[in-house]
Amino acid sequence: MQIIDGKQIAQNVKDGLRKQIIEFTEKGMRIPQLVVVLVGENPASLTYVRNKEKACEAIGMATKTVRLAEETTQEELLKLIDELNADTAVDGILVQLPLPDHIEERKILNAIDSSKDVDGFHPMNIGKLLIGEQTNIPCTPKGIMRMLESIGYQDLSGKRAVVVGRSNIVGKPIAQLLLAKNATVTIAHSRTAHIEQICQEADIVIAAVGVSKLIKANWIKEGAVVIDVGINRDENGKLCGDVDFEDVKEKVKAISPVPGGVGPMTIAMLLENTLHAYIEHERGIENGRTTI
Ligand code: GUN
Repeated sequence: MQIIDGKQIAQNVKDGLRKQIIEFTEKGMRIPQLVVVLVGENPASLTYVRNKEKACEAIGMATKTVRLAEETTQEELLKLIDELNADTAVDGILVQLPLPDHIEERKILNAIDSSKDVDGFHPMNIGKLLIGEQTNIPCTPKGIMRMLESIGYQDLSGKRAVVVGRSNIVGKPIAQLLLAKNATVTIAHSRTAHIEQICQEADIVIAAVGVSKLIKANWIKEGAVVIDVGINRDENGKLCGDVDFEDVKEKVKAISPVPGGVGPMTIAMLLENTLHAYIEHERGIENGRTTI
């Protein structure tokens, strides 16, 4: 059994990004910048945002967090996004989700310039992902694919993958990425009948439902690879995933832990997407046109 060390893979990615940023700035180019917008004080969001800031600083990427009050109106938020879209020193814009109930999430995500949408949540980027065009790919799914690559799972021809969860952030995009690598993909969710049997047939299980330790050993085929996207608290308040790690670990070929699995990969991919956006923006300016 192999533990897929997301923390280590993420560190390798970040080391590479750091070197690239040094090369760019040594050539006299500007520093890439990620702007995070945080509305309100959701405790999980505050933790995510702090981790993003630290990660940017560690690789020499500029970062700014715009902190807005819970009562901020949709119009005010849209105005801020217009300003960030127009700011040529900003490469990536991330609006932390969830947003307060009075703000329509889709309206906000659709307003972000698709070239600065480092989350990959804009309809243009979602559409490109669907047809296999190069684009900003959502960070968690992108990180999961890197984890699979790290154990030699590049081409997934002949493999059956089951994605448990159908969110726009993880379930739907990871299904597309697995399909693009030739896996035979099933998306299971809360209304799926016989979900355990479906998982038992999987060579790859992606668990992204947000239910503590839902997936037990009897759901898993001997030698399957399991990626756990869940970040939950167990009955003792301890961080845990959607997979019962202790129960399944002897049965699997490889598994990602929580914490130290998908979480660090998500942040590394956010930084990578931001650096790619920067490169595209710089190229656009060099070619005498603006990309925004
Ligand atoms: N909230 C939880 N995960 C994410 C994410 O990947 N991006 C954004 N913007 N908000 C989130």
